[in-house]
Amino acid sequence: MQQSFGGRPPSPRSVLLAEVAQATQRLADAGVPSPRTDAEELAAFVHGVKRGELHTVKDADFDARYWEVVARREAREPLQHITGRAYFRYLELQVGPGVFVPRPETESVVGWAIDAVRAMDVVEPCIVDLCTGSGAIALALAQEVPRSRVYAVELSDDALVWARRNVEGSRVELRQGDALTAFPDLDGQVDLVISNPPYIPLTEWEYVAPEARDHDPEMALFSGEDGLELIRGLERTAHRLLRPGGVVVVEHADTQGGQVPWIFAEDRGWTDAADHPDLNNRPRFATARKALP
Ligand SMILES: C[S@@+](CC[C@H](N)C(=O)[O-])C[C@H]1O[C@@H](n2cnc3c(N)ncnc32)[C@H](O)[C@@H]1O
Repeated sequence: MQQSFGGRPPSPRSVLLAEVAQATQRLADAGVPSPRTDAEELAAFVHGVKRGELHTVKDADFDARYWEVVARREAREPLQHITGRAYFRYLELQVGPGVFVPRPETESVVGWAIDAVRAMDVVEPCIVDLCTGSGAIALALAQEVPRSRVYAVELSDDALVWARRNVEGSRVELRQGDALTAFPDLDGQVDLVISNPPYIPLTEWEYVAPEARDHDPEMALFSGEDGLELIRGLERTAHRLLRPGGVVVVEHADTQGGQVPWIFAEDRGWTDAADHPDLNNRPRFATARKALP
């Protein structure tokens, strides 16, 4: 795949740039949403460097391995499954088959939660992440909220393998179980409950991007006909866990902004139910406060 550069042997840098450009075109033709970024990430992965360090690569002799991973991405295998790593806020997480790949839109949900906990001015805030997957949300909160006590729960055996690796050595207490019945020992003591649960309506299966539909676990994506089945249950769990005045934050699909705040209704013991957009200005998460007695 190497090109000639005016008779002189091409420098490793020119070869790398030419190959990344070719890979970008192949990924674009395959419908990959961010072809240049992915072509660079894959080159960085093959060379064992970070994307921002690609200019330091001296050895252009990586053709076979590069085109092998480009072909996998062309077939719409998620970038993060190929590289085995996913970036989330300030974290680098291990991910792969069996666990949901954390998404950038969830970063703004966590950002809101961090602000909410800081505004509470509690010395050792107690935080629960329901449906933790790779552990991304719980780990980000443990890292960014000093002295927080962070608990996380996940039901899937396969996802737990990844979550356990990621939380090792952190302050996150990880448990296996159903989010709906989790942490009875924390009832009424939690300052913030956060969740990015499965929320895609089963009726939208055919519209889901191939990376998610074919590689994210089904249990991580779908929740009943309208996508809200688990969120309706989590409303009760959050109410049970929170102390009066505590806050719940739940991510949802961009089509559900009109519905989810209504689940956190006043007659069910909530106040200040509101919906919030993500960085693309699409409805993305609902928040509410447990009413004082
Ligand atoms: C959309 S993924 C989100 C994972 C992670 N919170 C994140 O944002 O990257 C939803 C996760 O919920 C888990 N899950 C689904 N139903 C559950 C339940 N009843 N109890 C606990 N976890 C559940 C799935 O296995 C999956 O890991």
